[in-house]
Amino acid sequence: MIDALHQLFRERFGAAPALLARAPGRVNLIGEHTDYNDGFVLPCAISRQTMVAARRRDDRQVRIVAGDLGGATTTFSLAGPITPDSAAPWSNYVRGVADGLLEAGLELSGADLAIIGDMPQGAGLSSSAALENAAGLALAALAGQPDFDRSRLALIGQRAEHRFAGCQCGIMDQLVSARAIAGAALLIDCRSLDCTPVTLPADLAVMIVHSGIERGLVDGEYNLRRQQCEAAAQHFGVAALRDLAELPAAGGLDPVAYARARHVVGENTRTLAAAQALAAGDLARLGVLMAESHAAMRDDFEITLPAIDGLVALLQDAIGSAGGARMTGGGFGGAVVALLPAEQVERVRAAVLAGYRTPAGGPPLVMVETPAAGASLI
Ligand code: GLA
Repeated sequence: MIDALHQLFRERFGAAPALLARAPGRVNLIGEHTDYNDGFVLPCAISRQTMVAARRRDDRQVRIVAGDLGGATTTFSLAGPITPDSAAPWSNYVRGVADGLLEAGLELSGADLAIIGDMPQGAGLSSSAALENAAGLALAALAGQPDFDRSRLALIGQRAEHRFAGCQCGIMDQLVSARAIAGAALLIDCRSLDCTPVTLPADLAVMIVHSGIERGLVDGEYNLRRQQCEAAAQHFGVAALRDLAELPAAGGLDPVAYARARHVVGENTRTLAAAQALAAGDLARLGVLMAESHAAMRDDFEITLPAIDGLVALLQDAIGSAGGARMTGGGFGGAVVALLPAEQVERVRAAVLAGYRTPAGGPPLVMVETPAAGASLI
């Protein structure tokens, strides 16, 4: 990938880049739709990532070429207000991050940027967070701040989603992509942004199966879930659903908002329990918690799809009490994550390939991942 990136940069800009930055995608093991409720999540970064090659420009132009989009290009200026561009929506993550870095007081120069990655599209593995962090780190490094605080970097990526992409997302994706530690999952407190690494047992495999159902055009459903959670928190008189250790009686709350709250309150408890089970290598307990998480996403949060439920059930049957499986990410498609003993990977992979077909009729993409480190310069 590095060679291809160098070549892309040279072809488009006629010189070698000054620096390279990378940031990983992520898979969430448990703790779904809890981040924007100030709660807990347990994701890890994955080896699939986005890379950005960069070189300073002396004017205030930012020129971008996207290798994964057939070499599509776009340009914007740092001199005037930076706005989203509907003709090149893929670039809005970079525009948003540049805008956020300027607001944070960095003296950005103009830049030539080339982008390349190996993240499957629509899998819900946070390719946008990876792009935000890689581009943000590259721009910060060009501005003389290669050690720019990684939590601030993540917050700037989240701000880009809110203001430039129309998704009112939480902080999980950007934060784990910025701060992950190789070999570990991160238990993140999304209120304080404290990250506690939980080392994965050596013989544990993280398997990700892309359903082939692309996430897309679902920001409306996502933002609606967020509103419902906020309405429930307000009803119960708390700042966020995180503040409820147990679910109170509905007390007149609309049944849909109540079901959303039931998922979030239970999911926070499950996530803390899962971090302990993972640290202790208790895969049977993890499996139970993952199954409960999936059921709550299906029945209370209503973000799964029948085909995804089927894929999860297939994995759960194949793995039994040796581990677990659940849908991962925002929902309405994307990927399923399974935790299982490494020695069972081939048998479970065979079961998935035999038992599941994507909507296009082909076999699903199965990835077996080792938790990667967060955003860095190369
Ligand atoms: C998306 C968002 C995250 C988080 C998850 C659901 O990935 O970007 O902030 O809310 O969905 O857990």
